[in-house]
Amino acid sequence: MTSKIASTPTRICCIGAGYVGGPTMAMIAKQCPDILVHVVDLNQSRIDQWNSSELPVYEPGLQEVVEEARGRNLTFSTDVEGAIRDANIIFIAVNTPTKAFGIGAGRAANLEFIEKCARKIAECSTGHKVVVEKSTLPVRTAEAVKRILKSAANGATFDVLSNPEFLAEGTAVQDLLQPDRVLIGGESAAAVEQLVAVYGRWIPRDKILTTNLWSSELSKLTANAFLAQRVSSINAISALCEATGADVDEVAKAIGTDSRIGPKFLKASVGFGGSCFQKDILNLVYLCEHFGLNEVAKYWEQVVVMNDYQKKRFSARIVRTMFHTVSDKKIAIWGFAFKKDTNDTRESAAIHICRDLLEERARLTIYDPRVPESQVRSELEGIFKDALGVVSERHKQLIRDHVTVVPDAYSAAENAHAIAVLTEWDEFKKLDMERVFQGMHRPAFLFDGRNIMDACRLSEMGFEVHSIGRPSYHGNA
Ligand code: NAD
Ligand code: UGA
Repeated sequence: MTSKIASTPTRICCIGAGYVGGPTMAMIAKQCPDILVHVVDLNQSRIDQWNSSELPVYEPGLQEVVEEARGRNLTFSTDVEGAIRDANIIFIAVNTPTKAFGIGAGRAANLEFIEKCARKIAECSTGHKVVVEKSTLPVRTAEAVKRILKSAANGATFDVLSNPEFLAEGTAVQDLLQPDRVLIGGESAAAVEQLVAVYGRWIPRDKILTTNLWSSELSKLTANAFLAQRVSSINAISALCEATGADVDEVAKAIGTDSRIGPKFLKASVGFGGSCFQKDILNLVYLCEHFGLNEVAKYWEQVVVMNDYQKKRFSARIVRTMFHTVSDKKIAIWGFAFKKDTNDTRESAAIHICRDLLEERARLTIYDPRVPESQVRSELEGIFKDALGVVSERHKQLIRDHVTVVPDAYSAAENAHAIAVLTEWDEFKKLDMERVFQGMHRPAFLFDGRNIMDACRLSEMGFEVHSIGRPSYHGNA
């Protein structure tokens, strides 16, 4: 088996052309011009976008990477079966959302798409193939994948590797170009070496870690849990700062200079979002419960509880500060993506803040540089879905009547009673705030959910500024 692996030229297939599959495969194709990389997806319109100049994923620098390799050794298509047949390394990068129904609903990972991929691979394969789990999965998923693959009736054989992805959105290209590490878990040394050889084209060997399968699967969930825990920890302290007059950014700096703690991921915010932190922690919690580790489960669950508290606290503060009512007041929402430099809005804190403000009957004028109106409206409808997935007519009407999506930050703030900064887009720091102030009602409230605005300067202009975990500034206008 070893010689079979080593002697075959590498042809890669990736199932799933999303935020992970697209950028990771584009980078492999860019760095390895002699390897044919075929990315496939069931979603025709997503594939069409990957083949166009309007990629489905906004990432700084990604367009150039894709354009360098596309048509040379990088292909996007919906031919899942053909791509599986031709490849000797098959990545699975499909979505693994939180289960919305049945046993483990709201916690466990929904592995339906992974299983379908494994069955499709078993069905279409001949010879020997290396199957790589790129999606984030519960520990021991590879066992199930191996069993399904073993059922292949056509004599095909497989090695299964775990190669979780650590890129962050907004910095995907840089993260893929110079990752802190690449992690590869597997049982077959030859298969592991084959994948090491691919990454080894541009990543120093000492940054490619190899482990057993289960350590690799669990390390991915653990990394996300630790990162999210840091955000919840600093956000918990931000509440105490607001109560005591301490400044959370000063506290973060003071503790972050301790080399044992480090400065990264200590930015207090309106709450973490994104498709993965909450999903992966809930999955970890479910796994712990499954193994009877209830105290461990409760410990990690608190990270999500604290994040929910932080979002609620922010919207409640807006209502309280604005004389206990925002009904019929216009609030400008600056930023809807879950972080800057991405068009991704999955689990964005902005969705929750907007929901809370809509329930208070505020009129929202939303601006995000990268998120289209249809996406904003669909996310807002999504948050009002009931247990059966239905949005009531009343909620649809509420969104229709109270939400306007506008093409720039100035028009969002025109005639507004308040501004809520919910994503840390750089352009918000460069706005002409005098102009913004002139167009607003008095008092001109600004709620900075990202601590990016210069509160002191803005208060001199007349704004009343409320940030996360910092003293408030009351303007004099
Ligand atoms: P995504 O939803 O953007 O993309 C997944 C794609 O898989 C979709 O386009 C979907 O149509 C396709 N798909 C689903 N089932 C399929 C099938 N049977 N055949 C072909 N295509 C199929 O998801 P994503 O954000 O790219 O995440 C993928 C995985 O990577 C998840 O497990 C996630 O936890 C993990 N991850 C995501 C990130 C991130 O930044 N988004 C980072 C690291 C890891
Ligand atoms: C995160 C991890 O950083 C990646 O390593 C991982 O691969 C990925 O999840 C995944 O598995 O999907 P991502 O969610 O893209 O990446 O972005 P992050 O930079 O981690 O930010 C997550 C959220 O936390 C954002 O809403 C961000 O605004 C918030 N955050 C982050 C803070 O509020 N404060 C911080 O200090 C850092």
